[in-house]
Amino acid sequence: MQPPSRTIDSTQIAAHPGLLYFNKRYWGNPYRQPIREYSRRAFDHLDKIVSRAGVPLVVDAGCGTGESTLRLAAMYLDCLVIGADKSAARLRRQQMRNDIAHRDNTVFIRTNLVDFWRQLREAGWPVVYQYLLYPNPWPKPGQVKRRWHAHPVFSDLLALADGLEMRCNWAIYAEEFAHMASQLTGHAIRPEPYRPDQPLSPFERKYHLSGHKLFRCRVTVKSNLGKNHPLANYNQAGVSE
Ligand SMILES: C[S@@+](CC[C@H](N)C(=O)[O-])C[C@H]1O[C@@H](n2cnc3c(N)ncnc32)[C@H](O)[C@@H]1O
Repeated sequence: MQPPSRTIDSTQIAAHPGLLYFNKRYWGNPYRQPIREYSRRAFDHLDKIVSRAGVPLVVDAGCGTGESTLRLAAMYLDCLVIGADKSAARLRRQQMRNDIAHRDNTVFIRTNLVDFWRQLREAGWPVVYQYLLYPNPWPKPGQVKRRWHAHPVFSDLLALADGLEMRCNWAIYAEEFAHMASQLTGHAIRPEPYRPDQPLSPFERKYHLSGHKLFRCRVTVKSNLGKNHPLANYNQAGVSE
């Protein structure tokens, strides 16, 4: 049996005061860091699989070992479920070849999410839902820029799917994520306490069994966005307006 996991230890006791600064600085400006070569190659393979499948997509971003991706594939039988992670070690059970593995309605891709989110948005594929399960919290105040909601790709992460669910075990992360997603989408998003009946991923299982409080933020993205909105430069079909 695994030892209980420790709750998050941080000197940060409320949402980080710098968050709105990141919002003003990044949103509406495309992030220009070049796409890594391995992300580009893997995406080319994925492109062929997605074109052949011709079905809506579900993304499991930061899928780790892929356990959650396989569970999601059993839930979304009419979709292609894509598990994406940068760690070859975590993905090793999925028998990757050239950073990709495809079986039935599941695809695993080894890629960096900072690239993958921008590539997905650019491709305009029909992503109906995205899961972001237990992202690394980066709990020290000085690490705030590494949290996804303070990263320049946050608007790409939100824009590429019709809906998104982020789960975590740190109330402050959930509050910050909800706050930034509300600012960007114009919808009132609040973190909800969450108790899984059946844990979806290994981190969820570990935290749940250790008695941690869990939170989720559910975001609906593609409704009533004005034409000049930072998330609205791609429409539902993914065509640039
Ligand atoms: C805390 S683990 C959670 C894994 C899984 N979602 C779960 O709930 O069990 C975070 C995962 O995000 C992945 N990750 C972190 N930053 C990433 C990035 N920039 N690109 C791709 N994967 C990343 C890590 O490799 C790791 O597998």
